[in-house]
Amino acid sequence: MPGKPPAKTAISTTINGQSYDFLCEPRQSLLEVLRDVLQLTGAKEGCNNGNCGACTVLLDGEPVNSCIVLAVEIADRELTTIEGIAQQGHLHPIQQCFLEGAALQCGICTPGFIVAAKALLDKKPNPSEEEIRFALAGNLCRCTGYDKIVRAVQAAAKRIQADGTVVATPSPQQQAQQQQ
Ligand code: FES
Ligand code: FES
Repeated sequence: MPGKPPAKTAISTTINGQSYDFLCEPRQSLLEVLRDVLQLTGAKEGCNNGNCGACTVLLDGEPVNSCIVLAVEIADRELTTIEGIAQQGHLHPIQQCFLEGAALQCGICTPGFIVAAKALLDKKPNPSEEEIRFALAGNLCRCTGYDKIVRAVQAAAKRIQADGTVVATPSPQQQAQQQQ
């Protein structure tokens, strides 16, 4: 005979500047609720045990691995996911620089890197390469290698400092040339 379904808890919170109310089981991870309950599927599940950073989100401005945060912990907090990084239809300069610098291949790790890089640049607009590598040390990439990712974050820092200008996405031909 099937057991009683687990009781659910009502959570109110703010995600990407919008109010959300949802029900979740106390055992559910934030990543599970983001993806399966709220349909915010930008944060990716890599390891599901806190080791790869693919699920990184900002909780009150701090990067956390959403697979090892319980969804109930975000009650009355401010959450930013990769879906909240672009503003008013414009990619964030970090996203733009990842595209221009071909700093991704399969893209599974990319949302986590971009969210972690945003947390860094929000606090430290002009980080050294060492500081960038340290800030991204919890994010793993299996395909691209880290140099292009670090260079993309350096380029984004410069662009944000210059004037925050968002330039057009390069054409597929330009992207192909950059990868050569
Ligand atoms: S899926 Fe969360 S750290 Fe890997
Ligand atoms: S681009 Fe594939 S894991 Fe990073």
